[in-house]
Amino acid sequence: MSEIWWGNMDDIPEALRDSPKIKQSSRQLPIFLVGSLSGLGLLLLIAIVLLSRTPPNRQENVSFRATPTPTPTVEATPTPTPTTEAIENVLGHLPYQQAPESELKPITPDDRIRMRQTAAEEFLQMQASARAAGIILTPISGFRTVEEQNRLFFQVKQQRNQETRKRAEVSAPPGYSEHHTGYAIDIGDGRSPGTNLSVSFEKTAAFQWLQNNANRYSFELSFPPNNPQGVSYEPWHWRYVGDRDSLETFYKARELKPQ
Ligand code: DAL
Ligand code: ZN
Repeated sequence: MSEIWWGNMDDIPEALRDSPKIKQSSRQLPIFLVGSLSGLGLLLLIAIVLLSRTPPNRQENVSFRATPTPTPTVEATPTPTPTTEAIENVLGHLPYQQAPESELKPITPDDRIRMRQTAAEEFLQMQASARAAGIILTPISGFRTVEEQNRLFFQVKQQRNQETRKRAEVSAPPGYSEHHTGYAIDIGDGRSPGTNLSVSFEKTAAFQWLQNNANRYSFELSFPPNNPQGVSYEPWHWRYVGDRDSLETFYKARELKPQ
């Protein structure tokens, strides 16, 4: 019966077809249910497998890509700031730029000695003020080129057969002299020329006057006794620090540890 049914359905008289169909449905139901449940189970299994293979942060990645907000940046590890800046120096002397010719002004009648304009004007006022008090401030050396300093450092060193370190205690190597800036000046006492460029200058009336009055004109001693640069005491060597450029030239990031 079932063979006729399955195999030759079109041969059955039409009037008889309904009941056998009902029969067929009732017979097929368990098979259909089993098939459907198996299909669902399979789908469920596939879904579980797929979900279990999804990376745990997949959801974050998807929303991360879809969100137009900027990608959060990972903060770079901050570079430790040194408490004391490394300072370039040669035998205790600091590097200086040579002042442009156009900014130099003579401070002697023969134009031989020059300083940077602002420093020159201030020096001339200081000199006039000292003169009024009976003190003669004599300029010995002002602006120097790097080439002049080169001769001063190496030729004199050779003539005196000096060790480099010893020479550097009294003279800056070329490129490292405050005299390049046009702000520095060596001063003598016109009444005591024998003390020029000597520590004995500190005994002169000119030095005493400078000690008491130079601040008023924004001049200061560059190399006092036991200065942090380790340069010999030079009571004759003064520098102008009365405007922004000169102040930055001598003080910007230039703390040297005392020796
Ligand atoms: N005498 C000072 C250090 C110089 O040569 O600049
Ligand atoms: Zn000097």
